[in-house]
Amino acid sequence: MKTLGKIVAIHSYKGGTGKTLLSINLAVTLAKQRKKVCLLDLDFRAPSLATLLKVGKVEHWLNDYLNGVCEIDKVLIDLSETIADQGKFFVGLANPSVEAIRDMSSKDRKWEMRALGRLLSLRNSLLSAKGFDYIIFDTSPGLQYSSINAIVSADVVIVASTLDSSDVEGTRRMLRELYDLFEKKTEIVLNKILYEDSLRSGKEKLQALVKETYEVPLLGVIPCYCDISRAEGKTIFVHEKPNHPFTRIMSEIATRIDKM
Ligand SMILES: Nc1ncnc2c1ncn2[C@@H]1O[C@H](COP(=O)(O)OP(=O)(O)OP(=O)(O)O)[C@@H](O)[C@H]1O
Ligand SMILES: [Mg+2]
Repeated sequence: MKTLGKIVAIHSYKGGTGKTLLSINLAVTLAKQRKKVCLLDLDFRAPSLATLLKVGKVEHWLNDYLNGVCEIDKVLIDLSETIADQGKFFVGLANPSVEAIRDMSSKDRKWEMRALGRLLSLRNSLLSAKGFDYIIFDTSPGLQYSSINAIVSADVVIVASTLDSSDVEGTRRMLRELYDLFEKKTEIVLNKILYEDSLRSGKEKLQALVKETYEVPLLGVIPCYCDISRAEGKTIFVHEKPNHPFTRIMSEIATRIDKM
């Protein structure tokens, strides 16, 4: 019998650490490894996947699913053809309209509890019933309810951090004080690392630093690549640049997650 798939949440303390870049490229990497993957944009504060994936008219948003207005099947968009490979790649998008962003930021605690119930039920509706191998959540930074709900619903949480000192300190506190409560399998991806720094200190030193500072394992180190900045968020990097070192790193990260 096929084992049940995994829910992976990508989170961070600060904004702009690379959650969206990691989420989409991890999702597509897994799909290219013949997995059935569903990428969900849970960043209702600043939705970005609709633009990034150049999706046209959207009938139903994740907002509608969490509001209890429609079922998840209505929200999912099949983009398997975009990656033209053996795997399956579906997305569920957050509504980027100003009205929807304002609506989501005004939800009360009772609504958030119901939304948590709807996120938790994805395990049955997508992993068990529809046979997805992975659900990947792209989240908002920090400790707002939508991100906490994503962490609570996930099997594995990947925390993206840079070496910026306020990011390091905030991530350390968040991991010790919040994540400890949830007892989730958590690993760190260091992103935007200057290539010279990673060469100088070596992977082992970074590994020791992460273990000592965060007390969780290091899943991967991603250098700061001008090519990524140059792409201006308009391409799915691992798809467009199969031979780029970033694509190789994403492949290693995906394989490690798959083995967890
Ligand atoms: N390793 C990298 N090298 C170069 N640029 C990067 C790298 N990682 C991310 N970026 C760039 O940094 C910016 C922020 O990345 P991204 O949107 O993925 O972060 P985020 O954590 O999702 O941000 P937010 O918290 O606002 O949702 C983007 O322009 C992205 O292209
Ligand atoms: Mg983002």
